[in-house]
Amino acid sequence: MILVLPGVFAGTSKVCTNPLTSCGSTTSSDTCCYNSPGGQFALTQFWDTNPSTGPSDSWTVHGLWPDHCDGTYDQNCDSKRAYTNITQILKAFGKTSLLSYMNTYWKDYTGNDESFWEHEWGKHGTCISTLKPACYTGYTPTQEVPDYFQKAVDLFKTRNTYQALINAGITPSTTKTYTSAQIQAALKAAFGVTAIIQCSSGALDEVWYSYYVQGSVATGTFIATTPVGQSSSCASTGIKWLPKSGSPAPTTTGGSPTPTGGSGTISGSGYLNAVTSGSGKGCLISAGTWYTTGTCATFTARVSGSSITLTSSKGTCGIVSGVFTCGSGVAASVFTDKSGTLAYSGSTTFYATAVPGGSTQLPVYTASKAVSVSFAWTNV
Ligand SMILES: *[C@@H]1O[C@H](CO)[C@@H](O)[C@H](O)[C@H]1NC(C)=O
Repeated sequence: MILVLPGVFAGTSKVCTNPLTSCGSTTSSDTCCYNSPGGQFALTQFWDTNPSTGPSDSWTVHGLWPDHCDGTYDQNCDSKRAYTNITQILKAFGKTSLLSYMNTYWKDYTGNDESFWEHEWGKHGTCISTLKPACYTGYTPTQEVPDYFQKAVDLFKTRNTYQALINAGITPSTTKTYTSAQIQAALKAAFGVTAIIQCSSGALDEVWYSYYVQGSVATGTFIATTPVGQSSSCASTGIKWLPKSGSPAPTTTGGSPTPTGGSGTISGSGYLNAVTSGSGKGCLISAGTWYTTGTCATFTARVSGSSITLTSSKGTCGIVSGVFTCGSGVAASVFTDKSGTLAYSGSTTFYATAVPGGSTQLPVYTASKAVSVSFAWTNV
């Protein structure tokens, strides 16, 4: 067996102590730790149908853009770093799994992924202040490139637009139409913030998710936010979501958040985001309770055949006296995956006495209560 080590030793990102959040009321001139002037980040996704790109049950990555706090933006900020060898750079830094993910999910509609990646990097990536060479200690030329693409992909994995729409009963169709408000409500229910939707010839083809960043893009924290200064090109009614060629026809049942039969995706590390047919939001936290105003717990899903067991930082997760519970001494229950939505005893529907608000955390039951809720997995 031959061990192949990454060929390049990279420097490290500058350490940021108590970094400020971009576009905040307090600014900093240390643009290695404070993203400026591009401080409002957009993680943009495509739904290409003509021609179709990527998997028929997934959106694809467009890019990660450092817009100004008012929605205007700079572009092509450093021609010297407009690299034309993104694939080679990622390989040189040992980023083979990132590259293979990009080959599936970061697609160019003309078939030239490398040139699309060069375009996104050169136009937008070179404008990110915290990824400039001066922001690295012991900078190795091009090392900011893997940082850019890795961050964009990591964010993309937390925004499963396809599943969010399906869970709200919005399905790809050549005939059905939706209102802008329906689509936006579905995305807000899944991710807790407003997104910007874009249409072309009356069909939904892009979604933009906004973030502020505390600290640097490479090592800081992305904070989802309501977009400022960006606008939608979709009409308010009559919007189509066209199938990609070869799309399976998803089925939904009566607007309930029951997902379709497809390939499961619950594995590894992820969040369990609450999906309800009403004002659902939030996620499960480490004890297994439902919470809408805090940080989601990262669950670990171990998959064996079609059986899934879950753990959080509190311990193993199981159904204890009809309540979803994670803790030390909890006996593992077997869950299953229905298209990325958690199921117990074959059902993706769980219950709570209400949709939690403010600092309230509520238990999640398997037996019927006032509110039905499902939990959609997003890998983190
Ligand atoms: C990529 O291109 C840059 C600039 O042209 C060059 O400095 C670098 O060595 C190249 N990297 C690889 C891995 O080929």
